[in-house]
Amino acid sequence: MVPWCSGLAYVPVKDEIAGSNPVGTAGREFESAGVQFLRNESGPCWWSPAPRRSRLRESCLMDRLVRTRPRIVRDGDVSLFFTPGFYVDPYAAYNKIRAEPVRWVPELAAWVLTGHAEVAAALVDPRISRGSGPREGDLLTRVLSRMMLFTDPPDHTRLRALANRAFTPRRVEALRPRIAAVVGELLGGVEEGVWDLVEGLAYPLPVIVISEILSLPDRDRASFKRWSDDVIAFAASDDPNVREAALHSVGELAEYLGDLLGGLRARPDASFMSGLVQAEEEGSRLTGEELLAMAILILMNGHETTTYAIGNGMLALLRHPDQLRRLQRHASLTPPAVEEILRFDGSVQMRGVKARDDLSLGSAHIAAGDQIWLAIGATGRDPREFPKPDTFDVTRSPNRHLQFGRGPHFCIGAALARVEIELALGGVLARFRSIELGTRQIEWHEIPVFRGPKSVPLVVRHATVHAAKDRRLAEGR
Ligand code: HEM
Repeated sequence: MVPWCSGLAYVPVKDEIAGSNPVGTAGREFESAGVQFLRNESGPCWWSPAPRRSRLRESCLMDRLVRTRPRIVRDGDVSLFFTPGFYVDPYAAYNKIRAEPVRWVPELAAWVLTGHAEVAAALVDPRISRGSGPREGDLLTRVLSRMMLFTDPPDHTRLRALANRAFTPRRVEALRPRIAAVVGELLGGVEEGVWDLVEGLAYPLPVIVISEILSLPDRDRASFKRWSDDVIAFAASDDPNVREAALHSVGELAEYLGDLLGGLRARPDASFMSGLVQAEEEGSRLTGEELLAMAILILMNGHETTTYAIGNGMLALLRHPDQLRRLQRHASLTPPAVEEILRFDGSVQMRGVKARDDLSLGSAHIAAGDQIWLAIGATGRDPREFPKPDTFDVTRSPNRHLQFGRGPHFCIGAALARVEIELALGGVLARFRSIELGTRQIEWHEIPVFRGPKSVPLVVRHATVHAAKDRRLAEGR
């Protein structure tokens, strides 16, 4: 997955600085600038509640001192956000601050937007930037900065126009029979008993679909995933070893895709990748590095979010058996049920962006350079937009959730994700007559921006076997 954040305020301090004296000489420099040092069970950390416009986080000294992997803050200790409790139930945290839909949260050193209207406005506001970081440097830097998710106009406009030409609704609709067939294959071999929905369907389905879209041969999928994971790991870390691995992998990826793309240039076909290679907009084409960036972005965004949405959807249905029964009785309700799943417990919770200029949102005045978290997950439960927001209703209408964003960066894979979630959940409901949750406790991924269960063990009984048995019983045989 591509981490959609551009920095966290709360980070662990390297041991040589922290040691027995958590502040130390270098630490005192920061302390005098208003940065506070805390200690929790997992060691000393710093955070910067006061100097929200301080440049400390960008200073080279700070770069030397900190590892930038986010530290999980413990419940009741410092923050409502990104705690173990937050990952289990983010909605409780959102509700605590909902009365102020645009709020400065000191421990994140960022604004958090929870209101539907406010997030919708921010998503389309040109004064809010997705782009950051240098555009030139080694191959890795260049690839990350060329992903359209991290660019602003005019680069974004050009990249998006080219991608749109390849990612047409017709191409996505044409994938429907193939997606149905993959669902059928994945469910075909499932025995009665305990079955993990994530391992058996929610994970492999989007991976297979996106790999086919990108024309990645089966045999190379594992390598491609490893290379991409290395690149993505770097986006969330400054660790030199992680960087080294990412740089190496991006080189291998470039070589691999160079061959693939060269082949498609010589012999175009009907595939998405071929569409990307051919795409031309006002005389402009994707450069080699832009193609590479696009392929990695689509591979990453194209599977984890959908995997999580399928898991969240099944959990929502099992926890609302009346709605599950409605869906089992009326398969035609599956499309609105997918929208309700996305609204009620979406896989995208947060999007990290930055103010490019000073701007006012509601009564809040946001300064250029301020970090902003768009709590997209919170907007689905905003009572100003959705009556009875905590009620899960598969027939809800209207349902203008923001799970796929809004405006120029609106998710390019929304139609594809909708088809995959619909066919996956529809397939499970059609195949099994009885579905129960096989655990009392779900473990959640602890990723600040996304929400999804690590596994969803189900106890399943087949529709066909039991229907046949029931028929025999009814007929007295
Ligand atoms: C349930 C599944 C999904 C959710 C909830 C989701 C959500 C989102 C959101 C909220 C954005 C906008 C981010 C912003 O405004 O900065 C976005 C952008 C994007 N998504 Fe998705 N997505 C999903 C599935 C997919 C799939 C299957 C693909 C692959 C084809 C995909 C590819 C992309 C790309 C390439 C962008 C960047 C678009 C741009 O910057 O113009 N997504 N997605």
